[in-house]
Amino acid sequence: MPLVTTTEMFKKAYDGGYAVGAFNVNNMEIVQGITEACQETRSPVILQVSKGARAYANHTYLVKLVEAAMIENPDIPICLHLDHGDSFELCKSCIDGGFTSVMIDMSSKPFEENIAITKQVVEYAHAHGVVVEAELGTLEGVEDEVVVEAGQASYTRPEEVEEFVDKTGCDSLAIAIGTSHGAYKFRPEQCTLNEDGVLVPPPLRFDVLDEVVKRLPGFPIVLHGSSSVPQEFVEMVNKYGGNMPDAIGIPEEQLRQAAKSAVCKINIDSDIRLAMTANIRQHFAEHPEHFDPRQYLKPARAAVKDMVKRKIINVLGSDNKI
Ligand code: G3H
Ligand code: 13P
Ligand code: ZN
Repeated sequence: MPLVTTTEMFKKAYDGGYAVGAFNVNNMEIVQGITEACQETRSPVILQVSKGARAYANHTYLVKLVEAAMIENPDIPICLHLDHGDSFELCKSCIDGGFTSVMIDMSSKPFEENIAITKQVVEYAHAHGVVVEAELGTLEGVEDEVVVEAGQASYTRPEEVEEFVDKTGCDSLAIAIGTSHGAYKFRPEQCTLNEDGVLVPPPLRFDVLDEVVKRLPGFPIVLHGSSSVPQEFVEMVNKYGGNMPDAIGIPEEQLRQAAKSAVCKINIDSDIRLAMTANIRQHFAEHPEHFDPRQYLKPARAAVKDMVKRKIINVLGSDNKI
């Protein structure tokens, strides 16, 4: 099937109480691992490309890799999405270049400026059959080249969402309820210790989400920064020569709860990076004589596939939803 927009995907997800996974793609192994997992679990998927991914792999290579994945996995709906577009020009270039969805992220700008640029992108995108995700509220961490320092992040203000959606015409809205980008989402001092001595981060602000949903009934909500940073992979990285102290993510059960509500798209990148890196480190430690990239990229690709299947089952609930 050809690339799809998120319109139908989100309607089904909203009504069905699940979310569609949006996974970042940067190379062939990542595209293959994600789409094979989705084909096997019969799950719709959003493959998203950041500005950094485009700079790394080149727009044409990424589009062609996704086209190959569509041919190899013909049963699953695939949307090709720009992650964190930071200008009208970047969004236009992706719309003209075959993407079916773009995000314009002006969340770090004042409200009126966010509205004006988002509206400009929406007008161009809709005229070309492409949908638009926008953002209100800021997440801590690194979003492409924008670094939001700890303490500078702000939750979405529910009282702004109706005016924003009304004035911009955006198709979905990313909100800030306590998630953040990267593998270090909380400092240990922000967490509590459970009886097993495991650090438990502060809960997501479901009250903010509920208030947004009350004001925008039926409207698809997006969560960024939703990796869970599974500790077994952090331990693997550290065991085989890495150094990732105090890497902490969002507990999977909280994301599962969000996926059952109006949250229709959940963004995951760091967990895929972590799974690949842990496996490659282990491979090098166990096979120091290997130098053919296929020897370590093959298990790395399998690790991506396993991680995506885990997300589909534990977090998204999108299996058998094609
Ligand atoms: O939100 C950020 C995504 O994880 C993409 O990261 O800009 O390093 O490609 P990147
Ligand atoms: P993570 O860093 O939590 O995987 O978030 C990815 C993301 O939000 C991409 O836009
Ligand atoms: Zn993001």
